[in-house]
Amino acid sequence: MSISVNGEAVQMPEDPRVSLLDLLRDHLQLHGTKKGCNQGACGACTILIDGERILSCLALAVQFEGRSVITIEGVGQPDALHPLQQAFVEYDGFQCGYCTPGQICSAVAMVDEIRRGVPSHVTSDRVAAAIVLGPVDLPQGA
Ligand code: FES
Repeated sequence: MSISVNGEAVQMPEDPRVSLLDLLRDHLQLHGTKKGCNQGACGACTILIDGERILSCLALAVQFEGRSVITIEGVGQPDALHPLQQAFVEYDGFQCGYCTPGQICSAVAMVDEIRRGVPSHVTSDRVAAAIVLGPVDLPQGA
């Protein structure tokens, strides 16, 4: 059993209880992904699985066998930053910096969601949202 992390196949941990976050940080020494609350509340551990953002502290590594994981280390390189990383640098978006990797991973996925028309909390066109999501119950007059 293996998983792709930033383009490299890595073996799954023998212990099926290892979270994806702990696999990245403790087993693979990829410390860019941060452990904040470790209970799904802060987003510091956000990574990309096949382009979708997830909270790695809430996921078991074994759930993602054969899938593609991208961490902040795989989003860009120091000499070739992702445009969102460059924007964080240019516009001083770091705050303390601890959760910046999760914010950038989340933003990368969010931009892709916008491109694909995936509805969000602020989507005003619920008909378009229904096209993306499938039939939904719309209130009268919507
Ligand atoms: S560490 Fe806070 S949501 Fe995962």
